[in-house]
Amino acid sequence: MKLTADQNTLPLSKNALTVLERRYLKRNSEGKVLETPADMFRRVAEAIAAAESRLGTGNDPQSLAAEFYQMMTSLEFLPNSPTLMNAGRELGQLSACFVLPVGDSMESIFEAIKQTALIHKSGGGTGFSFSRVRPANDVVRSTSGVSSGPLSFMKVFDAATETIKQGGTRRGANMGILRVDHPDIMDFIMAKRDQTVLTNFNISVGLTEAFMDAVESGGEYDIVNPRTGEPVKKMPARKVFEHIVDLAWTNGEPGIIFLDRLNRDNPTPHVGEIEATNPCGEQPLLPYESCNLGSINLARLVTPEGQVDWDRLKHIVALAARFLDNVIEVNNYPIPEIDQMTRANRKVGLGVMGWADMLILLGIAYNSPEAAALGEKIMKFITEEARSTSRQLAAERGAFPNHKGSIFDKKGAKPLRNATSTTIAPTGTISIIANTSSGIEPLFAVSYVRQVLDNDVLVEVHPLFEKLAKERGFYSPELMKVIAEHGTVKDIAEIPEDVRRLFVTAHDITPEDHIRMQAAFQTHTDNAVSKTVNFCNTASREDVATVYRLAYREGCKGVTIYRDGSRDMQVLSVAKKE
Ligand code: CDP
Repeated sequence: MKLTADQNTLPLSKNALTVLERRYLKRNSEGKVLETPADMFRRVAEAIAAAESRLGTGNDPQSLAAEFYQMMTSLEFLPNSPTLMNAGRELGQLSACFVLPVGDSMESIFEAIKQTALIHKSGGGTGFSFSRVRPANDVVRSTSGVSSGPLSFMKVFDAATETIKQGGTRRGANMGILRVDHPDIMDFIMAKRDQTVLTNFNISVGLTEAFMDAVESGGEYDIVNPRTGEPVKKMPARKVFEHIVDLAWTNGEPGIIFLDRLNRDNPTPHVGEIEATNPCGEQPLLPYESCNLGSINLARLVTPEGQVDWDRLKHIVALAARFLDNVIEVNNYPIPEIDQMTRANRKVGLGVMGWADMLILLGIAYNSPEAAALGEKIMKFITEEARSTSRQLAAERGAFPNHKGSIFDKKGAKPLRNATSTTIAPTGTISIIANTSSGIEPLFAVSYVRQVLDNDVLVEVHPLFEKLAKERGFYSPELMKVIAEHGTVKDIAEIPEDVRRLFVTAHDITPEDHIRMQAAFQTHTDNAVSKTVNFCNTASREDVATVYRLAYREGCKGVTIYRDGSRDMQVLSVAKKE
């Protein structure tokens, strides 16, 4: 059956139907689609509500399933892709984010590769710290040989991912992290200069405060061999920093993460240290932890009068927080270690999408102080409400098992059900399903070509822009064509000034505007914030360095930058002239 918008009573766009049909809907062995999007949402709602019976909460799973169904079909909330794909089905693996430990032995490294394969098969992404692996050309006692180092092992992970991606639900993604004080750091920073290698990896350098201080003061810092724990030499911090900046400027990688900051917010330091994040960087996790994400579509939470619908938002946060905790319960974990660790900390990541669209509906420009202030206020509200639900769930079902000894274990404080409640995910695919702007990103363009699901492309014109253009009487097919070629409406004189201000795109605003928005949301997000800071093609290395320093000062947990045109393949691009 071919699905079209007419055959479907749900408010789904053509692009949403395309995406759902290709990868999300159940198919039989001949590849025939067996369910409608409504069936999919029902399957998910019922599977997640079934946790109530398992937990013996006394709540009626059927009425809860109806509420979950309503919240998803109204596109007010969507869980991460693996939950939509796998809930209520044989695979039953519902999380998007995993971190696996990589130790300094062959056993540990190849065990991690096997575990990665199992996770990728089910649509999850994996993050690793390679910082414990001894450097290249170090001693190997058992063979009297020399070690090959973290980079050569990363290539094995990459090859394994490449090989299994055909059979999986979606292309597997990896994050590789190396501490800035690892002896192989200079090679790691260069690792993706050649854009044809490590294509299944994002890479980030784990920066320490000692390093950042040395960058500031122009001093040196210690390089430590992880095998011995001994400093082996000193490096000039600025030289390494400039090397990172240079490569990021060249083609967007490596990114950076601030390790000490991740650990300052580690809710369970008694269980372990945070060394890595998931592939897109928004979810710091301990080894063997997994996390399931879900995002509230803010664009659906604006009243007809053009105000934030706080009452509805409160209702959705409470329901979504319960949904995500239930996911932990019914999830089918790929290996026992992950099952155990995830259930012990019960991290969930509730976040938002449709932020840029909400701002347009409210009449606020993305790059205004008002927008950043509102972002902070909304995220504070979401985190407080999600935690309040987490406390209620703890009273109903018990605190997370590692609560004792956690940062929340204070006298007189009510316990929490979840070690973390909030995360801002990229929402790369679920924002297409919800037909809204992704995560907290500004509009990429008013009209653009989007590359999805490996090699497919979709052409999109922003629906709010089209609507407004018609209402205000400046709509014409010719004008839409001009916009498609420009991407931005900034310099198009026929468009009223206030509309041009409202429809600013990622490239119309400054990198500092990007960071300020990231920092505004980070202030009240338990985990991290997925955000790409866009630079124009002519930006300098110094511009990149300035933004890195600003992000550090503003309290961000990491930075990902992208300079337009700096990679051969871009995920998003403006429609080109024929
Ligand atoms: O929108 P969707 O739920 O599909 O995912 P996202 O918000 O764009 O990404 C959330 C997380 O899913 C990423 O940080 C990765 O951990 C994981 N992911 C993945 O493993 N492989 C992909 N192709 C996309 C996302």
